Parts: sequence; structure tokens; C-alpha cells
Amino acid sequence: MPIPRRALLATAVASVVAAASIAVVGSAEAATTLGASAAQTGRYFGVATGANRFSDTAYMTIVNREFNSLVAENDMKWDATEPQQGRFNYTNGDRLVSHAQSQGMSVRGHALLWHQQQPSWAQGMSGSALRNAAINHVTQVATHFRGKIYAWDVVNEAFADGGSGGRRDSNLQRTGNDWIEAAFRAARAADPGAKLCYNDYNTDGVNAKSTGIYNMVRDFKSRGVPIDCVGLQSHLGTTLDSTYQQNIQRFADLGVDVQITELDVAQGGNQANIFAAVTRACLAVARCTGITVWGVRDSDSWRTGENPLLFDNSGNKKAAYTSVLNALNAGGPTTPGSPSPSPSTSNPPVPGGCAAQVTLNSWNGGYTATVRVSAGSSAVSNWSVAVTVPSGGAVTSTWNATNSGTSGQVTFRNVSYNGQIAAGGFTEFGFQGTGTGPTATPTCTAG
Ligand code: G3I
Repeated sequence: MPIPRRALLATAVASVVAAASIAVVGSAEAATTLGASAAQTGRYFGVATGANRFSDTAYMTIVNREFNSLVAENDMKWDATEPQQGRFNYTNGDRLVSHAQSQGMSVRGHALLWHQQQPSWAQGMSGSALRNAAINHVTQVATHFRGKIYAWDVVNEAFADGGSGGRRDSNLQRTGNDWIEAAFRAARAADPGAKLCYNDYNTDGVNAKSTGIYNMVRDFKSRGVPIDCVGLQSHLGTTLDSTYQQNIQRFADLGVDVQITELDVAQGGNQANIFAAVTRACLAVARCTGITVWGVRDSDSWRTGENPLLFDNSGNKKAAYTSVLNALNAGGPTTPGSPSPSPSTSNPPVPGGCAAQVTLNSWNGGYTATVRVSAGSSAVSNWSVAVTVPSGGAVTSTWNATNSGTSGQVTFRNVSYNGQIAAGGFTEFGFQGTGTGPTATPTCTAG
């Protein structure tokens, strides 16, 4: 598996008739903390924490300085919030929320339903009694925190590992396959302002498990089940799947946000590079709205002995910290959900024309390219983008477009569902290649 070594963040913009120009993504002021830097891109950078740490001043100094989002590592789980059936305890969850609010931080909610960390009374239940108890739990907890949660992990880890792409067996699953959508509907009714996420691990690339989740999200969107986001936990080892960004992109293309929700990376030679590559992948996808690391110092981590976080046991910044901050600062002032950096600012496409902008994630011997196709002041109906692939390299896979040729001049055309771009709007496609990624200006042709 190729190891991400650096990101070449190149932006090339062309209109159908105008002379090409290159707009390099840059940051006005390099921010000096993770949260501030992420905020410059319109995203958050969060951390998992808990009320039991709030008296540790060295720890809290880092939390308050570096992060602009919090998630409860344990304090909002079922066993913590409903230790006895119908008796709710929000003490620690409330402390976390009020601390975040006092610091101007957002809060992710984790997690309403999960097969683990259930209170013992729920572990012993089944059938309609369990279903009713679970939905009541969702309703009560989401109602209690209504208006205070940016995004809820409504359901956590419901898919099986391995190649089945299906659901995990659990007491919740045995109440009926529709338990997940029932939970999402209850959460929406209880807190209409919160984004509702499905969250899971081993989804760090295009694989059977992430495809099973992808199919569920697509089904939910088609049937109007309220889902707004997918959490990719990203508990990572010593390599990063080469389809990591592609996987984020395909969820985004379904019309949901994506968040990196529990990031930690085994310490080893590649830790800093993998942290940076994950950061760049999120920045490259407009709908990837934030990253959360699963703890502050290595000594705070659930992965005992793996030193998987950004600060060492003494609270010093590790190389991984610097690589993430640099990657965030290189991302520049962009906003998720809008074309950014805006081709229309630097080189407005002519009416009826289009512009193409390429962002590369490169490693030694390969890359993934995300291409944003933007319409100008008129809508676009069908488009093609011509890219010059440097000699010695070739395109090996493409998503959300079809390509003619794999080397030299390669032309990508829209597929059936993304040919129409509204005036001022955009769509994205991507490809993966060997060798060095294209840096020459692509040409976008409308019609
Ligand atoms: O609070 C009790 C304490 O009173 C008791 O003395 C002690 C004895 O073991 O246990 C304490 O609870 C532990 C809790 O963490 C708080 O420290 C639990 O035993 C322990 O199981 C629990 O582990 C958490 C784990 O989820 C539970 O499965 C980890 O802290 C937490 O990092 C981990 O987080 C999960 C995410 O929620 C979902 N994705 C995977 C991730 C890692 O497993």
C-alpha cells in the first residue's frame, strides 16, 4: 500500500474560452492552533474528553487552547445517561456542554444507540420491550440536549466487520432491521436542529463494510429517512488506505456531510504523515466538515501503548501535531459546501462555460485527484474536463465521471447524475493515478 508522504495542493483553473490561470491555495495568516486553523477552512477540529478530566489543569490548558469542538468519550453513552431504566443522569454530559459553550466550542453528541456500553438493564432486554426502551432513550436524551448539539451519532457501529457488508448481530439488530431508521426519526423529532450521523470504524476506504453503510445511506436518502452525516471513526494503524479520500467523497456525493470522528493513528514511522494525509483528505472534500481526535495526550488514549495522539504524555506537541497544523494551514480559507477556493473569484467562467479545479493528494508513486467542476453565471448541461497526465503515470480508477484514455491527455465526462450544474454551482469527480499527479491547467468544456 502506498504511503502518503506529502500533499501537493495545486489548484488549476480554466474556463472554456478564457486564458488559463493558476490560483494557488494559500492562507492569509498561518493559524497557530488546530481549532483556529480548521476554522479558517470553515471546519472544526475537535477532541474527545470527559468531565472526569476537567480538574487536570495541564490537560485543560491544551483542550482550551487547541480545539473548537468537544465530544464526550463516554459521558453521553447509554450506560452513563440512563443507568436505570427511565432514570436519566445528565450531570457529566451537561458539564461537558457547558464547558464547550463557555469556550465557544461546538459539541458532537456520542452516541445514542450502540451495542456496547449499554446499561445492564438494557443488555438483558429483547424484542419490542428493547425497541421501545431504545427509542425512548433516543427521544429523552436528544430532547434533553436539544439545541446544544451540532451533530449526534444516532447509531454507532451497527455494521459487521469482514466482507459481508451487512449488519452486525446485536440485541438491537434482533429487534428488526428498521431499528436504525426508527432511531433517526426519533432523533429528528426530538432535536430538529442537530445533524444526525451514522458512525462506524474500519470504514477508512472503499471496502465491503463502508459500502454496506453507503448503500444504507443511499437507501435512507431515497426514502426520506432523516440522515445528515456519516462519521468515519478512523482508528488507524501504520498505513492509510489509498481510497481514503475517495470514500469520503462518495458519501459526500450522496448528499450527506462527512466527519472524521475518532481519529488516532498508531505511532510508527508514518504517524505524522498519516495524520496529515487524513487532514488533507477532509479538506479536499467540501462536505467533510470537521475532524475529531480521540483524546489529547498519548496517556489519555484508549489504545494503551500505541501512542496514537497528537500530544505526548507530558502534553508536548508531537511531530504529528505539526503535520496536522501545517496541513490545515495549507488548506487555506475555504468553506465547506461552497466552491472554494472560489474559481469564480480568480477566474470567472464565462456565461455558459465551466471551470475545473484540481486538488491532489500525493504520495511517493501515486495520487488521488479531486476535480471540482463549477458553472459560471449560467447553468451547465453536460461537461467534460481535459487533463494532462504527466508521462510515466496513468489513471487507474475514476469516480463520478468516465474517462477516455488513461495517459497523456485524458478527458473526463460527466455521468448521468452529475451533468447538470446550476448557475454558480459545482459538482466534483475524482480519479486515482500512478506517478506524479497533473499540475498543468485542465480545460473544462460545457455542453
Ligand atoms: O467509569 C468506570 C470506572 O468507574 C471503573 O472503575 C472502571 C473500571 O474498568 O471503568 C470505567 O469505565 C470505563 C470507561 O471507558 C471510562 O474510562 C470502561 O470500563 C471502559 O470500557 C470504557 O472504555 C471506553 C470504550 O469506548 C468502551 O467501549 C473508552 O474509554 C472509549 O475511548 C471507547 O470509545 C469508543 C467509541 O465510543 C466508539 N468507537 C470506538 C472507541 C474506542 O473503543
